[in-house]
Amino acid sequence: MGTGEIPRMFSRIAGRYDLANRVLSGTLDRTWRRRLVRLATPRPGERVLDVGTGTGDLLIEFHRREPELKLWGLDLSGGMLAVCREKLRRLRVEASLVEGDALRMPFASGAFDIVTIAFGLRNLPDRERGLREMVERLRPGGRLLILEFSLPQHRWVRAPYRFYLNAIVPRVGGWLTGDRPAYEYLCRTIQEFPTPQEIAGAMERVGLADVRYEALSGGIAWLYRGGAPKSRR
Ligand SMILES: C[S@@+](CC[C@H](N)C(=O)[O-])C[C@H]1O[C@@H](n2cnc3c(N)ncnc32)[C@H](O)[C@@H]1O
Repeated sequence: MGTGEIPRMFSRIAGRYDLANRVLSGTLDRTWRRRLVRLATPRPGERVLDVGTGTGDLLIEFHRREPELKLWGLDLSGGMLAVCREKLRRLRVEASLVEGDALRMPFASGAFDIVTIAFGLRNLPDRERGLREMVERLRPGGRLLILEFSLPQHRWVRAPYRFYLNAIVPRVGGWLTGDRPAYEYLCRTIQEFPTPQEIAGAMERVGLADVRYEALSGGIAWLYRGGAPKSRR
């Protein structure tokens, strides 16, 4: 899928994206985002950038945990950002929303204490470049947190989950959003995504220190954390 097609696809499903997430994950997606926010240990006044922010659920969780944060959301899809803007307004969450590409971020080096990406790394055509861009925006000692799907490693969980991904998700996602190909694409990218060990390796290659990762819900999703070096090379 070309770069222009990905934001168009997300703009098409934007209006029903949250509903589809809640139904397809049985609301687990919320629990996972909350876990990410806890692991990020945000402190009052810190600057947080959420890359591929979509409809802003992670920004909302950050605000709930620590209302004194300064929040930014970046996304390539104007349609997703429009839904996000309306949701943040309704919930009185203040954040700067920027339409732009994670591979060419319109932010200064070292501008953020925390950078996050939830279910977005999978969509980047050049993941390592995306990781480098994110690390570049962290101040020395800042934290990068990634939440992403994967295939469970245990085969007894993996086989039924594969069935769920291939047979159920495209049908139900298509029915809820009117866009079955979008959910076929999402399920395909989950199955093609590198293993957690490979992602952790890529995080180390781009200069992150103390990289850790943990399985969520039996390895359906994984949470990764790494620290920017204390001083720049
Ligand atoms: C699966 S959604 C995840 C949204 C949100 N983070 C969440 O937790 O629900 C992926 C988001 O990444 C955005 N995206 C895809 N490619 C991007 C890129 N190159 N730069 C910025 N955002 C991108 C899409 O528009 C979409 O909103």
